[in-house]
Amino acid sequence: MTVATAHALLTADEITETAALVRSLGLADDDTTFRRMAVAEGQDAERHIEVWLFRPGPAEIDELVVSLSTGRLVSKHTVTGQYPQPGFGELFAAMDAVRTDPGVAEAVAERGITDPSRLQVDPWPTGNMGLSIEDGHRSVRCVLFYRDEENDNGYSRPVDGLMVFVDLDDMEVYHIEDIGTWPLADEVSNYQAGSVTPRTGLRTIDITQPDGASFTVTDGNHVRWQNWDVRVLLDHTEGLVLQSLGWTDGERRRPILRRASLAEMVVPYGEVRETQAFKNALDVGEVGLGRCVNSLQLGCDCLGDITYLDGAWCFDDGSPVQIDQAICIHEEDFGIGWKHTDMATQIPEVRRSRRLVISSIFTVGNYDYGLFWYLYLDGTIQMELKLTGIVTTMSYTEGDDLTYAALVAPEVAAPIHQHLFCARFDLEVDGPVNTVYRVDVETDEPGDHNPHHNAFRAVANRLETEQQAIADVDPAKARTWRIVNEQATNRLGQPTGYKLLPADSPTMFARPESRIAGRAGFAAHNIWVTPTDRTQRFPAGNHVSQSRPEGQGLPAWTDADRPIAGTDITLWHTFGLTHSARPEDYPVMPTEYARCTLVPFGFFDRNPALDVPPNEHCH
Ligand code: CO
Repeated sequence: MTVATAHALLTADEITETAALVRSLGLADDDTTFRRMAVAEGQDAERHIEVWLFRPGPAEIDELVVSLSTGRLVSKHTVTGQYPQPGFGELFAAMDAVRTDPGVAEAVAERGITDPSRLQVDPWPTGNMGLSIEDGHRSVRCVLFYRDEENDNGYSRPVDGLMVFVDLDDMEVYHIEDIGTWPLADEVSNYQAGSVTPRTGLRTIDITQPDGASFTVTDGNHVRWQNWDVRVLLDHTEGLVLQSLGWTDGERRRPILRRASLAEMVVPYGEVRETQAFKNALDVGEVGLGRCVNSLQLGCDCLGDITYLDGAWCFDDGSPVQIDQAICIHEEDFGIGWKHTDMATQIPEVRRSRRLVISSIFTVGNYDYGLFWYLYLDGTIQMELKLTGIVTTMSYTEGDDLTYAALVAPEVAAPIHQHLFCARFDLEVDGPVNTVYRVDVETDEPGDHNPHHNAFRAVANRLETEQQAIADVDPAKARTWRIVNEQATNRLGQPTGYKLLPADSPTMFARPESRIAGRAGFAAHNIWVTPTDRTQRFPAGNHVSQSRPEGQGLPAWTDADRPIAGTDITLWHTFGLTHSARPEDYPVMPTEYARCTLVPFGFFDRNPALDVPPNEHCH
């Protein structure tokens, strides 16, 4: 076979090849399953693939890197005492185990359900609530919904009160927790075409680019558009990843980000009912976004002149799952880029803004997450999550406490929850040696220097160590973070840099003593800065399934309080939405958005979009 270049997308053929190589090297036996396969980070010219293997007997996880170029094992690290992400094959087997379990049949019969095959079984990550019944079990906790028809929206009819614990090694139900019975909701709330009478009056919008798109894709995933160039990857765990993002002026290519990804997320729920309180999904680490990627449809998911990239992920048995059209790349008009009308001459100058959109959509159980990366003509970089799908539901009957949930239909409530995303930006603004400043705007004290009491200033604090860098967003101080290269200057002698314009987002509301706060410590603060360390990539740890609340990941790493100024650093930003459900979120949720933005700050000598030509069709 021809070995791909080091930074290309992982293909289905390479997954097959890698699994065969791992087996031929004697690293996997018949009981071994594959839990992650991805293009390894920080590799050189060789094609290095990262593989995580799980052996159930001793419950060991091997973290391997193998070289497809040389056919050799590059590195191996064995982890004990932790559980891997459940395999997709396991999750489907667990659903079957629940539907065919006699105890489950009995429990649902008491609720009037005589045909367990009509149960919708959602296998939730059980988390780690410190239950002794779970000790020694590699476990998922299943919650149930009911569908009369196969295509019904099961979330409109929760079978609340039951939690079914399945051991993934034995693939058997080992415990059923029954906390009470709620009546099955009467109303079936469907959302599919055919179940709703469509409105009228919406005429066609077509996006046409008669001269074609302005970007190119070479070598499978190397995207070039205007001054930008970037590699696009689909990672098993993190989903859509940008790698080696740079801006070229003439002959000079200027790096900005070595890698940018959604490294973890957590969805903590605020409802205290036992069937809801354990729901604290770490969807990146526990589920794996790359495995949940949608095959996108032209004219539906994306409009315009689209280039799609195919994706592939590794199933439990090492075989590839090919996803056609997994990544969408296109250009979007984005309104006015800049404009001025000269008051004396009344002559306007106006330029359109345009952005390159690189996106994928991931379906994780009831929710659907779009991950959208935007590159703009003026040097701005943006990461946006689009949240849609169906809110998780619980039964409501008269007298139930609605302090921590809200009615979305007559007998259905949705618990309050958060979606907290942790972006990882491996920085290389004009090179690998960067420094971060936290910038607060402060009102000056009265005094001789402030005779009109109007003075306020931007105060930049150079962040020297990890502990000093830990902080939260503060809209009252217009707080931003400036990433600079102190060895490079613009024409004004200022260090070149980018500014993180943070999302206006709270941190985790669950108390620090909660189990989830200890498992997802990254969500305790909005900003962390660490020296770049290739062994520190996942902010709640590599293996988060049933992880213990021990502050692993970012809180543990930053305990070392390493120096972070003038070195190779990574910026971590936790941001997201707090979701107090409303009737309009039901039965399917209108898209909500969460985003953060990197804006050039002295990276350029002037407005880099000055040279955008006027629109020819402007008259
Ligand atoms: Co939500």
